[in-house]
Amino acid sequence: MATEKTKPNLRASISFTPEQMAKKAAQEIKTLLEKNPYAVLGLATGSTPIPLYEELIRMHKAHEIDLTKPTYFNLDEYVGLPVEHPESYHSYMDKHFFNHIPGLNRLKVNILDGNAPDKEAECRHFEEKIDAAGGIDLQILGIGENGHIGFSEPGTPFTERTHLVELTESTRQANSRFFDGKIERVPTHALTMGLATIMDARKVILLASGPKKAESTYKAASGEVTEDLPASTLRNHPDVTFYVDRRAASHYPEYVKLFSSPEAVLR
Ligand code: F6R
Repeated sequence: MATEKTKPNLRASISFTPEQMAKKAAQEIKTLLEKNPYAVLGLATGSTPIPLYEELIRMHKAHEIDLTKPTYFNLDEYVGLPVEHPESYHSYMDKHFFNHIPGLNRLKVNILDGNAPDKEAECRHFEEKIDAAGGIDLQILGIGENGHIGFSEPGTPFTERTHLVELTESTRQANSRFFDGKIERVPTHALTMGLATIMDARKVILLASGPKKAESTYKAASGEVTEDLPASTLRNHPDVTFYVDRRAASHYPEYVKLFSSPEAVLR
């Protein structure tokens, strides 16, 4: 019988390397695009999805998928960084994904404007654009060491939609590696999709690689569903897969047991 701890809808795909993990996640996206080439994809930034973007670009160049057809919505953007700043999420997406898709119609790319004078209006407009596109078919997520998804930090109500957020010390510390290790250079605020926005996506894939993600990923997959751990809300999503590499899973015998099976339902 399904209980809070045994959601049959929560799939785990355990890989040995981040590259293998990326290939499996890319296959899920390919399957979606085969059914619906014009799907609406929700994208994440950070270190974790880079191998996934590389694999998707490889598939696009090999004509296995067509990345010019989907519409894209990004999870979040820093407040106050110029768009052309190398660490803005606009720059990240161009560098790791969009610049590698010749013929991409930029009107299909939606990234929050962290410099919009009226942040609330910007967030509302973003939600309206998602609605107008028919909702997100598949949302890609990373996970923070503190269990955040997007920039919805611990304590964020599950009901929140796209909003302005003050970043926690822990997130700014984690992201200071992109700002010469200097936390004071990391913006203090961001605009982010809310947890309710993410939960409205028809399909969610969460990627976690490396030992620093082991604890939050494990808690999200098997612990209490609580606003103290934003990613735990995914346990109530009808279609979510956790793609985890060996190092993000290695501390936990429960995960190790699943290594023999490439696709497994978390127990
Ligand atoms: C990125 C985002 C964040 C990251 C998370 C993990 O758009 O919203 O939630 O996914 O902070 O970041 P990395 O992958 O750099 O460890």
